[in-house]
Amino acid sequence: MQRVLFVCLGNICRSPLAEGIAKAYIQKHSLQIECESCGTSSFHEGEHPCPNSIKVAKQHGIDISMQHSRPINPQDFENFDYIVALDESNRADLLSMGVMYEKITKLGNYGYRGEDVPDPYFFNGFEGFERVFSMIESCVHELLKKIQQQATGK
Ligand code: 4NP
Repeated sequence: MQRVLFVCLGNICRSPLAEGIAKAYIQKHSLQIECESCGTSSFHEGEHPCPNSIKVAKQHGIDISMQHSRPINPQDFENFDYIVALDESNRADLLSMGVMYEKITKLGNYGYRGEDVPDPYFFNGFEGFERVFSMIESCVHELLKKIQQQATGK
């Protein structure tokens, strides 16, 4: 079993989408992968994902409304095999925690030339959420395919 942790700043917009998209893909393809998400901050600890993330996920048949924001903790670096930052600032924050560098990667490395997933929380309106959904979806699928290939040699 491989374990993947998606990490953004607030764990209310981007990483909850990555978690929801990954879980749907894992279920659909019966993969031996588990995933969660968290934030580098505790700003929104305990909150559900933001309404626009819930809405865009629902439009794609994915329910993320029951997720709760949580901050990253030291145990996560032991428990997960892949710690996947949504943007460069999240990646820098994870690296500054000073452990398990080799597990830390960035979602945009999987098909988007290392680009950041921009934070739609600070955009106007819903359109930004649709854009980040398709970027996250494409990268998450690519990442999970790579993990599965490495685990099974296929
Ligand atoms: P996220 O977006 O990192 O994609 O969950 C954010 C949402 C809220 C805040 C920061 C990031 N905030 O500082 O309130």
